[in-house]
Formats: sequence, structure tokens, C-alpha cells
Amino acid sequence: NLTSLEQQTEHSTITKKENHTVSEKVYIFDTTLRDAEQTPGAALNLGEKLEIAKHLAKLKVDIIEAGFPVSSPGDFDAVTRISNEVEGPEICALSRVIEKDITAAWGAIKDARKPRIHTFVGTSPIHREQTLQMAIDAVTYAKSLSAGHPGAAIEFSPMDAGRTELSYLYEVVEATIAAGATIVNIPETVGWTVPSEFGKLIADIKANVPNIDRAIISVHCHNDLGLAVANSLVAIENGARQVECTMNGLGERAGNTSLEEVVMAIRTRRDYFSDYYTDINTKEIVPISRRVSRTMGIPVQPNKAIVGANAFAHSSGIHQDGIIKQRNTFEIIDPADVGWQESQIILSPRSGRNALRHRLGALGYEVTPEQIEKIYARFLEVADKKKEVHDADLEAIMRDEVRSI
Ligand code: KIV
Ligand code: ZN
Repeated sequence: NLTSLEQQTEHSTITKKENHTVSEKVYIFDTTLRDAEQTPGAALNLGEKLEIAKHLAKLKVDIIEAGFPVSSPGDFDAVTRISNEVEGPEICALSRVIEKDITAAWGAIKDARKPRIHTFVGTSPIHREQTLQMAIDAVTYAKSLSAGHPGAAIEFSPMDAGRTELSYLYEVVEATIAAGATIVNIPETVGWTVPSEFGKLIADIKANVPNIDRAIISVHCHNDLGLAVANSLVAIENGARQVECTMNGLGERAGNTSLEEVVMAIRTRRDYFSDYYTDINTKEIVPISRRVSRTMGIPVQPNKAIVGANAFAHSSGIHQDGIIKQRNTFEIIDPADVGWQESQIILSPRSGRNALRHRLGALGYEVTPEQIEKIYARFLEVADKKKEVHDADLEAIMRDEVRSI
């Protein structure tokens, strides 16, 4: 029963965002097949990539970054197959600002209904050589290759934007928009900035790049300080309308912005993020999270928000009692909304009689108030010996109980 939570959120909507009635879409750009595939040990074969891409289309992501075609013939083939066989999202291919990369990227995606070339170059002093002209030339070339295609788009990324001097960043962004980029992605390549700083960076770009309104501002955050999701959310509040992210937050080093966390933050905190929405079909989140974990061979940490095994598991007696009476006492998301079957109550020495009675009821046992005392005492003996009491243990306790009557 979510009524009280909804009332509470409705109330804060009225107080916080009085004048806003129209929500703007935040585009979800999934880079599981490109940045997450760079996770050590996560390489996928063509069939696996195709299956994940089809599942991402079911999840209704807006853009799939399918790979980096110049990097290998296998990657080129995978991007080509995804472009030809996956319906719905835009299909994006990555390239450096080098002609042969851009030619390969376009070669792999040209038959997609909505192809996108994503070209990038390092712009911070650590990465920079003569990048301004290279960036302009790359966008101009990508634009010329895709000119005859009605659905094509060009995205440009000044890599390591978080450590690039502002004046140079404005100049590159302005010049690449003038050359034809319609999406400018601001990568936080090494996860350097903290949310207030990154939010200000996006606001500054919006305020200081004259033609910024001709492009969508995108963000691509890495998680080296565990701030990728926070940085992406604050970027949305400051003008970003595309978030680049991956399933389970996988990606280089500590990973990328986690798709499921950003999407569920916007959806769950509708009161706070009332100006924004995504088109994600959230019921597909857990199924695709599992598929990605299985196929890449990278287990999801149990306490991972939304998709971890413990995300909807309740272990303390007080929490279990609360959940049984009213779900939203200790859960802010309905597990069914993200594809879990139900919340889990973990029976342990910290569980109370109510949780025990509830689980026994699910197993088909109606117990009287007199019986529960005796069964609970036996339950605690078992629970003290084991970390968790499973259904088989409860069945054994109940068999003994029936025999003793
Ligand atoms: O992290 C990064 O900067 C990237 C770019 C290619 C966008 O992955
Ligand atoms: Zn990246």
C-alpha cells in the first residue's frame, strides 16, 4: 500500500516545484556493450552481444553503443549485426577522431534505421596535443559520411572534460556543434569531480557555449570515487538530457554510471525529479542485469542497489514486522517494478514470531498462538546454529511439532 508515500511525494512536489508542469525526457544511452565490455575479463562473443542488444531494446534504452568497430574485425561484425537486427534504439559506434576509425564506424552502422557516430578526443592537458582541429575535422567527416541518411546523428566527446580548462572546453564544444555534432557528451573519464563541481561544470557549459541549445548535453561518468550516479543526477538538474550508463555499473576500472540506479532514482523520487522522466521499461531491469552478469561472468555484489540479491531482503525482526504489515515502511521501491518477484524475508535469530508465522503461512501451516510459542523456541535453537533458517529447516521443525501432538 503506497498511499501514504504517494501523498507524501505529492505534497513535496507542490512545495518544491510549484511552477513546473511539463517533464522533459532524459535519454538513456547504454554503453554496456562498449565501456562495460572493457571490464577486465568481460569480453563477449558475437552471439552474446546480439542477445544483450536485443534485451536492451526490450528494456527500451534510447541508444545502444554497440562497440568500437575499428578495434577488431569481431567488433566490426558485432556492431554490423546489431545494426541490422536490433529494432528500436539508435545504434551507436565509437571512433577516435581519426579518419579510418570514423570510416569503420560508419561502415558498421550505416544500415541501422537510426545510426550514430560517437567520436572522441582527450582535451585535458594530460591528454591534449593539437586536438581542436582534429575534433572539428572528425565531426565534419562523420557528418559528410552520414549526410544522406535521414536518421543519422553525430556525437562528440571531449574526453577527460572534468580536468579540462573551462575556456578550452567551451571552445571545443562550440566548434564541434558548429561542425555538425548534435549531441555533446561531457565525459568524467576518471571520476575526478564531486557532484557540486560537476553540476556547476554542466551549468557553466550551458551558460557559456553560445550555440549549446542546438545540441543535447550528455554526461558519461566513471565511478572511481563512487560518485558516477550522483554526478549524473546533478548533471540532469543542471541541463544534461542524456546519461551514458551501463547495466550493473560495469565498465573500466570502478565502472560507469549504473543504468538501474539513475533510472530508479528519477522514477522513485518523482517528487524531486518531477521535471524529468525516462522511457525505460523498468520491469526488465533485473532480467537483463542477470543476463549481463551471467554472460560477462561478473557477479553482482549482494548489496548493490536495485539489482543486488539483498536489495529487497529484510533481516532484522523490526524491519520484517514492518514489511509484513506495510511494505513501504522499509522499502521505497516495489520489487515487482524492477522485475523481482517479491521482497525476501531472511529468517535468522533476529527474526520475530510474526515473520516466522508469515513464512509458515506461505508454506501452508496455520499455527495457533499456543503453538507459535513452542515452534518459535525451537526455531531460535536452529537459528542460533545457522546463519539463515531455510524452508527445509522449517519443514523439519513442523514435522517434529506434528509428531509431538
Ligand atoms: O570515459 C570516457 O571518456 C569514454 C569516452 C570514449 C566517452 O568512455
Ligand atoms: Zn568511459
